[in-house]
Amino acid sequence: MSFDAAMSIRLPPECETALLERFLKAEAMALWTVRSARLQDVPPNVYAFLRKHEEDEEQHLAQFETMIGRQPRERERLPSVPRQWPALAVQLYGYESLGLEFATLLVTLRPDLVSIRKDELVHVEFFEHEIRRLLKDGASAAEQTRVSALAWWRKLPRTVDRYLEAAVLDPYRQALTERILSVIEQRFRETGLLEREETTMMTLLRRDEEEGR
Ligand SMILES: [Fe+2]
Ligand SMILES: [Fe+2]
Repeated sequence: MSFDAAMSIRLPPECETALLERFLKAEAMALWTVRSARLQDVPPNVYAFLRKHEEDEEQHLAQFETMIGRQPRERERLPSVPRQWPALAVQLYGYESLGLEFATLLVTLRPDLVSIRKDELVHVEFFEHEIRRLLKDGASAAEQTRVSALAWWRKLPRTVDRYLEAAVLDPYRQALTERILSVIEQRFRETGLLEREETTMMTLLRRDEEEGR
């Protein structure tokens, strides 16, 4: 679903460097987040998956470092992640979904990088499965998962904005933002994370714009 949808936006070749730069940062962040998640108290099957996940993100980062010819800025500390598994699962699921949309976009310019997109799809599918499990896991886990999802989702427009920060992307920013937000919203709804939320992401986005946030 998301691949075909995002395929409809094609960036011109002059956007490639900017997109690779974004990826260098995003892959580094994904790697640090997975490392941080591995230090938390997560279910055993998740812990096992995170080891493989960490290897994938290490490899992705190394690829972008080679292409760009430099390393991302070092961090002194790993990023903090939620301690509670439902909130952590939402964060991992959300960022991997976002990563998948960017990888889809990247592949339109760099079809040779399709293996990165395939990995991102595996990551998304794993956490999607865990989210579905949490939603069936009893009222309290389900509630915590949905509350976390709503909080993450409401911050998404600003996150996407940060990801698209580059002058060369200016002419495409609005179309890209709308596409990415609607694909992720649809994904969250299909998983059952947003079923009781009537407001659509587009309404939230417009409201934020009107309020000048
Ligand atoms: Fe990645
Ligand atoms: Fe990933």
